[in-house]
Amino acid sequence: MANFISFLLLLSLLSFFPMCLCNKKLGGYLYPQFYDYSCPQAQQIVKSILAKAVEQEPRTAASLLRLHFHDCFVKGCDASLLLDSSGSIISEKGSNPNRNSARGFEVIDEIKAALEQECPSTVSCADILAIAARDSTVLTGGPSWEVPLGRRDSLGASLSGSNNNIPAPNNTFQTILTKFKLQGLDLVDLVALSGSHTIGFSRCTSFRQRLYNQIGNGKSDLTLDQYYAAELRTRCPRSGGDQNLFFLDYVTPKHFDNTYFKNLLEYKGLLNSDEVLFTKDQESAELVKLYAERNDLFFEQFAKSMIKMGNISPLTGSRGEIRENCRRINA
Ligand code: HEM
Ligand SMILES: *[C@@H]1O[C@H](CO)[C@@H](O)[C@H](O)[C@H]1NC(C)=O
Repeated sequence: MANFISFLLLLSLLSFFPMCLCNKKLGGYLYPQFYDYSCPQAQQIVKSILAKAVEQEPRTAASLLRLHFHDCFVKGCDASLLLDSSGSIISEKGSNPNRNSARGFEVIDEIKAALEQECPSTVSCADILAIAARDSTVLTGGPSWEVPLGRRDSLGASLSGSNNNIPAPNNTFQTILTKFKLQGLDLVDLVALSGSHTIGFSRCTSFRQRLYNQIGNGKSDLTLDQYYAAELRTRCPRSGGDQNLFFLDYVTPKHFDNTYFKNLLEYKGLLNSDEVLFTKDQESAELVKLYAERNDLFFEQFAKSMIKMGNISPLTGSRGEIRENCRRINA
């Protein structure tokens, strides 16, 4: 009898735990209906303020899509990126990937202020970033998806995490892939999410190395089309012009589509981290070709990978807090 009971116990353990793991893997803690009762207007408010901001300045869509990425890769999607320096907090905004580069914080402030008016202390800054990333994609012509919600906001930031976890544009293919894998993302996610570079800008300083001294021999990158390189050099000189802006996708810069992948096939990816997806790994190159051919498959995978990225280590339950102002922790 005792044996039978322990058998039953074992059975229930076996069936229970894989389920927990499974839920966790699927982001079981987050769900799209999270604010349906507590703040039914939440998503509409984000969308309308963002739409206005993008109308005034189209680049805002790209900038906000990137903020969600830079948030999620550092301590998870917890709005750690949005904190300004104060007290013991050293802002992630000063990290190498973010300094003079990450932008759109004022739009997040405006959205947060409107949400605090409508439903005080309810909608997290981390969720605002996730919804804004989706809406930015849709506003520029990309795919839509239901955003799992219920993230809470961090009580701290990590400058070192921001410097170390977010790939640099001159990292090798392997380093970039490793940095994605450390976040639970795979090669398919890497290729699809890099497709974000179908919109937005890069500064000269982020790709200059490719134009003049790619491997330390004073020559330009051989995997960069030479005519495209010459054109880029006219506004990105050897020295100076660091902040000059260039379209990441020079063909359809404001439209979210698969032209980014078509550019890679022609050796016209702007960043080294873009072109290596086609030139340094067979499996990755196959995906680049597939997405260049099939916009529908790119869109489908992009949505899936965005949901996966949005599920990186969220704070849920009573962990973290709902910030009243995204730039600082509550008093
Ligand atoms: C795979 C590794 C990645 C690297 C090395 C990388 C690097 C960069 C760099 C260097 C810039 C230009 C920044 C500047 O010069 O100011 C940039 C811009 C951008 N990135 Fe990435 N990125 C990566 C992945 C991603 C992902 C996963 C997303 C979103 C899911 C993303 C979204 C964007 C967007 C939208 C812009 C344009 C931002 C704007 O115009 O304000 N990137 N990225
Ligand atoms: C990558 O770029 C950084 C910043 O410009 C530079 O310090 C570093 O030497 C570069 N790394 C390689 C491997 O070229």
